[in-house]
Amino acid sequence: MDLAAFRALEPLCWRAPSAHNTQPWRLRYEPGAIHVGWHPAHTLPAADPTGRDLRLSLGAFVETCLIVAADAGLRLEYVADHDERHHRVGRLRPAWCRYPTPFRTTDVWERRTDRGHFAGGPARDTLAAVDAVARQTGGGVRAVPYPDRLGALLRAADRRLYADPAVVAELRRWLRLDPTHPDYHTDGLNDHCLALSRTTATGLRAALAAYPVLRPLGLPRLLAAADDPLARGGAVLVLVGPADLDRPGQVEFGRVLLRVWLALHTTGLAAHPLSQLIDIATTRTALGALLDVAPDRLLHVARVGRPTRPAPRSARRLG
Ligand SMILES: Cc1cc2nc3c(=O)[nH]c(=O)nc-3n(C[C@H](O)[C@H](O)[C@H](O)COP(=O)(O)O)c2cc1C
Repeated sequence: MDLAAFRALEPLCWRAPSAHNTQPWRLRYEPGAIHVGWHPAHTLPAADPTGRDLRLSLGAFVETCLIVAADAGLRLEYVADHDERHHRVGRLRPAWCRYPTPFRTTDVWERRTDRGHFAGGPARDTLAAVDAVARQTGGGVRAVPYPDRLGALLRAADRRLYADPAVVAELRRWLRLDPTHPDYHTDGLNDHCLALSRTTATGLRAALAAYPVLRPLGLPRLLAAADDPLARGGAVLVLVGPADLDRPGQVEFGRVLLRVWLALHTTGLAAHPLSQLIDIATTRTALGALLDVAPDRLLHVARVGRPTRPAPRSARRLG
């Protein structure tokens, strides 16, 4: 297989999801292989200090590359070769056969994070199907059994995040709340994708600009109370991994995460991640207790349901 043929497909692969839409991936072409790595400037050291979401995003990117290549008739496989020092997770290389996947490039193209209203959650058989996807790699997908307890946990997690100046500074760096922002169409989280009205986006921008002054006056509590995603419907699902998952294992589970999201997408459902629930130690422990699962096995949390209207398409860098 001529690896250069993959270059033309790259813009489709950029549709992979990533935390804060930083699009951390980098491809480096070498004779016989394409190295998959990340750019340190596109990581989230404050919000994602362990690098869990970075590795999930890179895994989602790898899976996206394999799906897009297979759909174009290219025979490509992925070999993990994790190297923190060189910011590399592995390589894509020619294979004997096409990557076996039920998904198509159109699924990659059409899938979106949806932070809007959901008409209902996943049916029992859909839940069983996505759980089966994760079980193939020793994980599972679980629905949170006590949704009523989640509201308080979510507010507590948001309060803790908004109280951390480093997390807020990092969030501001990736927020694009005004269409005149130079990177509005390139990366990050824009007002449209966050489902914010013009007034709310302007208010949030002003509040975050005044953060150093307003933080001691209770801004974190106010911001945490300002949004209630659980009121917009759906069920909350958790991706659970095996105990003691190492870094390459987390990349592998990023591939699982993408397969789960695409499986949901093909049944007309969408996901709205709520990572803050597992970013904060206390809410992570509480969520683990609700699920009767060790907290360190919780890899990803999302509200999942049937969108009531199409979500906006998020921005991407072109190269
Ligand atoms: C590992 C991971 C964690 C994420 N966490 C959150 C989150 O906590 N809240 C949220 O609203 N979106 C979250 N997202 C969704 C990203 O913001 C989204 O994928 C990105 O903006 C690109 O948009 P798209 O998924 O519509 O292509 C997460 C995505 C990934 C891959």
